[in-house]
Amino acid sequence: MLLKDRISIVTGGSSGIGRGIALEFAREGANVVIADRRESPLQGKYHEKDTSTPTVQEIEKLGAQGTFIQSDVSDESQVTELVQQTVDHFGGVDIFVNNAGIHIPGGSQDISIAEWDKVVGVNLRGVFLTTKLTIPHLKKSKYGRIIQIASVHAYRGGAGPAYASAKAAVINMAKDTALEVGKFGITVNAISPGYIETAIQDYLTLEQIESSLEKTPMQRLGLPKDIGRAAVFFASDDAEWITGTSLLVDGGASAKT
Ligand SMILES: NC(=O)c1ccc[n+]([C@@H]2O[C@H](COP(=O)([O-])OP(=O)(O)OC[C@H]3O[C@@H](n4cnc5c(N)ncnc54)[C@H](O)[C@@H]3O)[C@@H](O)[C@H]2O)c1
Repeated sequence: MLLKDRISIVTGGSSGIGRGIALEFAREGANVVIADRRESPLQGKYHEKDTSTPTVQEIEKLGAQGTFIQSDVSDESQVTELVQQTVDHFGGVDIFVNNAGIHIPGGSQDISIAEWDKVVGVNLRGVFLTTKLTIPHLKKSKYGRIIQIASVHAYRGGAGPAYASAKAAVINMAKDTALEVGKFGITVNAISPGYIETAIQDYLTLEQIESSLEKTPMQRLGLPKDIGRAAVFFASDDAEWITGTSLLVDGGASAKT
């Protein structure tokens, strides 16, 4: 097991990619705190249609310890409470995965200023809050890790101004934070997923999904587990000298652009 007894927090861990990461962490022996606004998983119209059990139940089936802590990552007091409750319950934090994210489709003339604030509030401000409030605890760990879930949209347009900018910023925040905390043995890396089959894709048409598949050299769309395995790598001892980087996990789709 690569993460035996490590204490991890996965934001947005009730659904989709976060759930995939949480289950791979559990398979590798980690204790996992699921930090999400809701406990029941999101069910999409294309993907995750039959997913219904809370992630913690699935973690326990794998023989690991899981705990759900209701929290909104864009709220400072809730993030403070999340970190404190984790430390009280498990005795510390080793791995923090910034996965919670939202997407509101539309260009600059479609989305409102309030919607911009909402997307940036969760996808960027939320990452700053969790990073700021977790580092004091990660410093005490022998295996401190921060993993940001960015996106292929960090590198190109097409996903709307708020989402794309926040994701690009998160990759740069990983570099900046890596410089700050390397001396404490903490690594900070980003994973940039391509199309992953989750409920976040509900806004797309079937034709758009088909087009994403056609652009994927590996001949299938991504699954939450694909990102989960990449996160296990960054969290493990195998990646102890890798920091400040971003890994594309997209079935090769970006290789052509
Ligand atoms: N699915 C993809 O193709 C894809 C591609 C690139 C990047 N991503 C990124 O991966 C991450 C996860 O996406 P997903 O596809 O699993 O989405 P999803 O919508 O399936 O799940 C997101 C989870 O985050 C939770 N969440 C949302 N806002 C929150 C908040 N403020 N505080 C706490 N929890 C919150 C939701 O309740 C949900 O459980 C996001 O950051 C997303 O931008 C997804």
